[in-house]
Amino acid sequence: MSRVDGLRLASAHVDVDAFAREVQYYLSLTPRQLPSRYLYDALGSSLFEAICHLPWYPITRAERHLIETYRHDILDFAKQPRAIIELGSGNGEKLALLLQDAQASRTAHLIDVSATALAAATSRLSDIPAVTIVTHQDQYEEGLNSVARLRPRGESALALFLGSNIGNFDQPDAEAFLGSVRTSLRSGDTFLIGADLVKPEPMLLAAYDDPLGVTAAFDRNLLVRLNHELGANFDLAGFVHRAVWNAEQSRVEMHLESRCRQAVAIPRAQLNVTFEAGERIWTESSYKYEPVAFEAMLQRAGFAPGRRWIDPRSRFLLSLCRVN
Ligand code: AVJ
Repeated sequence: MSRVDGLRLASAHVDVDAFAREVQYYLSLTPRQLPSRYLYDALGSSLFEAICHLPWYPITRAERHLIETYRHDILDFAKQPRAIIELGSGNGEKLALLLQDAQASRTAHLIDVSATALAAATSRLSDIPAVTIVTHQDQYEEGLNSVARLRPRGESALALFLGSNIGNFDQPDAEAFLGSVRTSLRSGDTFLIGADLVKPEPMLLAAYDDPLGVTAAFDRNLLVRLNHELGANFDLAGFVHRAVWNAEQSRVEMHLESRCRQAVAIPRAQLNVTFEAGERIWTESSYKYEPVAFEAMLQRAGFAPGRRWIDPRSRFLLSLCRVN
């Protein structure tokens, strides 16, 4: 076995331990829950890409349309930045849309935890002339810190946080996260963030519980992971996907609901759970914002909102801010 393989195995092992510990902790809480970031293994990421093509899930298309339409305004407001920093670059599609016909030479810093995503984004962006790609396989905040260290003095930057990924943060965490993004940028930099807005409940429920069952598969894939990676014996047919609009908290929640009273063993998390009929595992929150409240939050975190674009049909917001 090569040294590289040995390192990979070692880090994969550490990851399983962290997964097992978090599963043990979160599944023992009341109500039972699982962190939503575990939705994105290879299969989960493919299912999420499929969700983005669903007619009932408009976020991705709306955002793509706004970027395509306003890309010149965005780059002008950002004073034709020399550096572009994307948090959670995914497959690089949105950055490619933004930079499609830009001529100036630029450095694109891609920050993502997924090596597969970084490889896909790098290959997509390599078609665009004059863009130098620097990848950071890291969590958002660590990646931002390495970008901050690498940036030359006086270099202007535009940071992107798209896809309504801010929606997965609980309120205090969202604000703390934005504050730390602000800290790793420089005064005068620009920040573009996408957020999904509050809309009629039937639209929200169709987006998170689609008639094709793709979102249900995305959600139940968490149980597949627990079975494969932690040796659990979840009966997949014994859990139903539920999407719930929590108006008070302004969020769509995903839950996996037990159809009957059933016992499940999760050996590698040293956990045995008995689910009651109707008992739920809460797997994700997707917060939906009002534009004014969202911009107030940006302001508290040290950003000055400058431009705002809303896709009227899907109610999706792109907010472009200056770093104070
Ligand atoms: C990737 C977090 C923006 O919350 O809308 C899609 C994930 N969950 N369908 C979202 C998701 C269910 C998505 N984000």
